[in-house]
Parts: sequence; structure tokens; C-alpha cells
Amino acid sequence: MTEQHPVKPRSGHHNLDPHLDRYAARTAGMTASEIRALFAVASRPEVVSLAGGMPNLAALPLDTLSAQVGQTIAEDGLVALQYGSAHGVPALREQICEVMALEGISAHPDDVVVTVGSQMGLDMVTRLFCDPGDVVIAEGPSYVGALGSFAAYQAQVVHVAMDDEGLQPAALKEALVRLEKDGRRVKFLYTIPNFHNPGGVTLAVRRRAEILEICRTHGVLVIEDNPYGLLGFDGQIYPALRSTDPDNVVYLGSFSKTFASGLRVGWVLAPHAVREKLVLAAESATLCPPTLNQLIVSRYLATHDWKGQIKKFQENYRERRDAMLSALEQYLPAGCEWTRPDGGFYVWVTVPEGVDTKAMLPRAVTARVAYASGTGFYADGFGSRQMRLSYCYPTPERITEGVRRLAAVLESEMDLLRTFGTVTRAVSGPQSPQSPSPDTA
Ligand SMILES: Cc1ncc(COP(=O)(O)O)c(C=O)c1O
Repeated sequence: MTEQHPVKPRSGHHNLDPHLDRYAARTAGMTASEIRALFAVASRPEVVSLAGGMPNLAALPLDTLSAQVGQTIAEDGLVALQYGSAHGVPALREQICEVMALEGISAHPDDVVVTVGSQMGLDMVTRLFCDPGDVVIAEGPSYVGALGSFAAYQAQVVHVAMDDEGLQPAALKEALVRLEKDGRRVKFLYTIPNFHNPGGVTLAVRRRAEILEICRTHGVLVIEDNPYGLLGFDGQIYPALRSTDPDNVVYLGSFSKTFASGLRVGWVLAPHAVREKLVLAAESATLCPPTLNQLIVSRYLATHDWKGQIKKFQENYRERRDAMLSALEQYLPAGCEWTRPDGGFYVWVTVPEGVDTKAMLPRAVTARVAYASGTGFYADGFGSRQMRLSYCYPTPERITEGVRRLAAVLESEMDLLRTFGTVTRAVSGPQSPQSPSPDTA
């Protein structure tokens, strides 16, 4: 063994990793997301980053919160700083039921499991349901963190198309029939019905029952991921899938976008039969979610006008969405198309044929604007003509400037394309989910 795998000096290159032959097979699917690779470059102050999805916390009342955290420790310190149950703090689980009631969900606090962000919920449900080779259906495009979890458990993602009204029921049905015919085992549909990340679209209300019916008919569980549901710009709240199908929907919720992402408090509302296993899985992952953070959220919900705070967030994001849409209208070259979100953080842009957004990214960063290229949101290499633009974090002025810069980069790509017939140096095309994608930054 030593001859074949000599210990190499420390190096950043993964091929020289002396532990390479020790890793579990499942790590083959673990590659740095393109977005994470970009973070370091995109966070330089001269770059307008339309790449990340960081919530804009400026509207939070920090003085009030700081007093509340102090009170939590002064009054409940010995509980707050102690281990808790894997299930989560009971009072918080009750309050979570009140939050979900806004979306028409009637749930018992026993069926809520508090998690370290909804990302942990995603990890838990994939761990519970997916064996290597099982199929997970997801919208195309889909949330990059979910794709990461699915890859880590060696599940195979099959994407189903969306349009302006979200996931297409006919395409879902067709995919399920095809997969059944091929003898594939589909474990669940993973869907983000509201203010999609990265698609920026919302599942039409009239499609919801149809999608639930299709999944039930084909024996497929539904994972409903809904971190943005309360961030509709007109205060609109769509009925959760979970509200009408409690036995076949696992609902993932989060306080990351409606309160504070750094507290890492989210939850899973599981069908009663699943909840027990979920608690056991959560226990083996973390023993318990942080008690202090749960008590902070609980106190915040009990003593603060949290609905008023969400309204402030909505106004903030609406203003930024408006800046983004008018800048896109004003600057983007003909042939570009984009979605028009009525909530959430993201716009999904399709650029003209021949432009490769992944290959273009270094040139955009040189022009001091960053975005997330589309391929990171697909498990199958699709998305080279797409990009996600986030409007959640920068000021409206920076958003306008960022889109202006992006438009100039696009114009010059398209000029080259017209002159030489090609601009791309990187070859894009389908790649297997297992093959590591090179970092783009
Ligand atoms: C669709 C979706 N699901 C889950 C998450 C994870 O959120 P959390 O901070 O609750 O882990 C995100 C975060 O961006 C998201 O966009």
C-alpha cells in the first residue's frame, strides 16, 4: 500500500490527499458547491455580489434582542446552557405550530422536531429514506444544499421541469411512469413550492392538489421545503402542501429567513409515524439542537411583534426585487429572459444560446459583479445558459450597478459570439453527479 499511495507533502490539490483510499464511497458525491467556491472572491467589497443568498438582517432590532438574550440567560440560564432533548424545547414546538397555522397547517407539537436549520432537516430525511441508488425527484433547477445532501447519501436526482407556475404536474407524472417502467425506486419528491430557490417562481395553488394526488398514486412521499413562505411581497401566504395531506408530506421550516439565520433554528413537521425515527436520527447527529438558541427564538416569538418584523423584511426585499427587475429590464441585452418573483430572494435568468454562464463567471468577477451560474443547481450538468441572481442582500443602488456591469459582460460575450461563433473556453455538457466539478473561483 505504501508504494501505491506514498504520503505526499501537504498540498491543496485533492489528488494528493494521503487519505484518498480511506474515504467512504459516499464521499464521491461530496464536492464544493460552485457557490461556496465563489464566496471568497465575491465578498470583496468592490464586487457587487448577486451570488449568495444571505438574508438582510439590517432591520432586526438588535438592542431589543440583546436584552432578550441577556434575560434568557439571567432567568433560564441553567436550562439554556444545558443539554436538551433531541425533539426540541416543548414551548418552541408549540409556537412553531402557531407559525405553521398561518399556512393552513394544523399540527400537534409532538410531530415537530427542532433541527439545526432546515438544512439539518434535509439531511435527516435523506438519511431516513434514501439508500444508495434510490431516486429523488426535484424541480429543475433545485436548491444547491438539498442536492448536496442527496449526493452525500448517493441518491440519484431526477429533475422535473418548472414553468412560471412552478413544478409541472404533467412532467412529474411522466417522470414517475418512466422511472417505474425502468424499475427505479423513487423515494420522494423534494419541492420548494413558494418563492423558489433558485427559480423565483411559486407553485400555482390549483396545481397543489394535483401534485399531491400524483405522488400519492405513485407511492411517493413529498418533502415540502418552505423557508421563504412568509416572505410574500404583498403579504400573501400560500396554503402549504402539508395542510391538506398530513400523512404523505414532510414539511421543513426555518427561522433563518424570517428571523435570524445565524441562530440555526429550523424544524421538521413529520407524519406521526415518521416522527419517532426522525428524533432518533437527530439524536445520533447532534444529541440535541442548541437549547440557548431555541429559548432565544421562543422568547422572541412570545414577546416581540414577529409578524410586524416579517412585514419589515418583506418591504425590504420587495424594494430590492423592484430594483433588480427594473435594472434587468433596463440593461440586459435582448434574448435574455428572467422570472418575476412575488416573494423570496431570487431571480432566475436564461441567457441567449451560446453563452455559457459558468465560463463567463471569471470575466464577470473581473468586471466586479458575481452571480451563481446555473449548473450548480442541477445534478445532471444542465443549466449552462442559466444563472441565479440574488437581490436579498445588496442595497437597491448596488443591485442596479451590479446588473449594469453584468449586462456589459453579457454584451461583450454576445459580441464575441456573433463575430467568432464561440466565446466559451470551457466545454459544458452533461456530467455525472459523481464527477467533481471544478471550482469556478
Ligand atoms: C430552499 C432552501 N432550503 C433550505 C435552506 C437552508 O436553510 P437553513 O438556514 O434553515 O438551514 C435554504 C437556505 O438558503 C433554502 O434556500
